[in-house]
Amino acid sequence: MSLLEELKTIIEHEQSLAGPLVPLPHSGKGDGERTPASDRKPSEMARNTSSPASRIAPSGNAGGDLFGHRPVSEPGAGNSRSAYARIHALIPTESPLHEMNTLEEVEAFVRDNVLIPLDKTRKNPVFGTGNPNADLMVIGEAPGADEDAQGEPFVGRAGMLLNKILSAIRFAREEVYIANILKSRPPNNRDPLAGEVKAHAPILYKQIALIQPKILLCVGKTAATTLLDRQDSLKAMRQIFHDFHGLPLLVTYHPAALLRNPGWKRPAWEDVQMLRERYDQLTGSAA
Ligand code: URA
Repeated sequence: MSLLEELKTIIEHEQSLAGPLVPLPHSGKGDGERTPASDRKPSEMARNTSSPASRIAPSGNAGGDLFGHRPVSEPGAGNSRSAYARIHALIPTESPLHEMNTLEEVEAFVRDNVLIPLDKTRKNPVFGTGNPNADLMVIGEAPGADEDAQGEPFVGRAGMLLNKILSAIRFAREEVYIANILKSRPPNNRDPLAGEVKAHAPILYKQIALIQPKILLCVGKTAATTLLDRQDSLKAMRQIFHDFHGLPLLVTYHPAALLRNPGWKRPAWEDVQMLRERYDQLTGSAA
């Protein structure tokens, strides 16, 4: 059975038994995606009859949850400045990125400059790929060996799985935009260092400001903790739409983590169905 069929069969079976699934409260560390050392068991799931849309935290909770984490109900809600202007403002004022107006200019900047030592050791910069007018942007961690060799994100095994997941929710890879936090490969797929993230994240902010997606999907803990500026487990961050400076942002497992832990495919499938539902609402493409 193909992976896609497997994902669908699991969820259809579960839903036929007792309706949609939501996770139990949980604690613990993240999935460890690109470093396979810390594989963990998938969380237990509890049954609930609410629809995915009802899992958006209620509005009126201006201060967010107990920890001050604010979910979002509408892009730009409660702030007159556009989400893209707010995200652009995250770029340090002295950065040359401020003056750039096209993705091509930004790509050339990434190609021609050494911002961190990894920019010297890489075979190719991995800028991003896909539709420059995409309404959905998928954000991963950093290039691996295949991506470094080809100069394109998510082209290895994890990338093949990402393509299947996108296809399962009716997206062609070419329809969305795919990028990483880091544009250069860390040696031996080690986790990105804080200084590397700090130096490269503004490139991603610029990509978001230029592409102007309506919704963001972070795959894996590094992308989520970087954008949400929050240290938490992946499981604590999924199943809710976060507010990334006015843009809805959903977090799910990294495809590499799903390859190591097939038990996470079911919750990932739940996440991406939620994503598709919200995307359809935001773009008016609901049937
Ligand atoms: N993992 C990522 O996070 N990004 C890639 O491009 C490939 C693997």
